[in-house]
Amino acid sequence: MNIIIFGPPGAGKGTQSDFIVKNFNLYKLSTGDLLRNEIKKKTTLGLKITSIVNSGALVSDEIINKLIENIISNKKYHNRIIFDGYPRNLFQAKNLNKLLLKYNQKINIVIKLKVSLDVIKKRIAGRLICSKCSKTFNEFFNPPPKNLTCCKGNFLQKRDDDNVKVAVKRYETYEDTTKPILKFYKKMNLVKDLNGETDIESIQSKINDYLTVIEG
Ligand code: AP5
Ligand code: MG
Repeated sequence: MNIIIFGPPGAGKGTQSDFIVKNFNLYKLSTGDLLRNEIKKKTTLGLKITSIVNSGALVSDEIINKLIENIISNKKYHNRIIFDGYPRNLFQAKNLNKLLLKYNQKINIVIKLKVSLDVIKKRIAGRLICSKCSKTFNEFFNPPPKNLTCCKGNFLQKRDDDNVKVAVKRYETYEDTTKPILKFYKKMNLVKDLNGETDIESIQSKINDYLTVIEG
């Protein structure tokens, strides 16, 4: 099955995707992670997109679509992708449909997490990520070990776009450009709405129920 996990910044897309990957042996395709990796490695693409990502705006569709096709076309990931942070506008959504058709696949479910801006601000302000294993913590909701270490060292870091000002900009981009594409998926009868403000385990359990039904 292929899944889209959908929601505003800080909704818990990455957190829930990681559980889904483990429980259902899927591959996580996070466009945000792919872009941050390019930025970290200072590749030509990375240098070109650093200021865009750090401002909370969207990177061009051309760049994103290339990244996506490389993965959808790979037989290793056939029918086992969880899309985290993609698609983000109608052009990307239509492009995804075309690519899936080309490689004989489809989307089985769109899981939409609903979270208010007040909660988002706190989640983004408190997020810490281990630069070694990518595990995500939160100072307020999901605290890291007491001495702030992971992987036996001081590897916990904040993302460069994780401050309240940029989070608000990311939220506005989501509301104006990304959220409207839900109509496209609602017409296809694929959207399941979940309250993203309950605890991590309850959300995980509801997602598990949906996916177990799809798996048959
Ligand atoms: P991206 O990396 O996709 O970021 P985002 O959409 O802003 O989402 P986040 O990663 O911030 O949040 P999340 O929903 O994954 O939450 P998480 O699970 O970490 O994109 C970043 C940028 O890249 C974009 O702004 C854009 O510039 C560019 N980009 C990416 N994709 C693109 C595309 N397709 N087209 C163009 N540009 C693109 O959780 C957040 C925190 O909350 C964590 O600390 C976690 O521990 C905690 N938490 C999670 N769930 C709960 C819960 N239920 N209760 C309490 N705490 C929780
Ligand atoms: Mg994420």
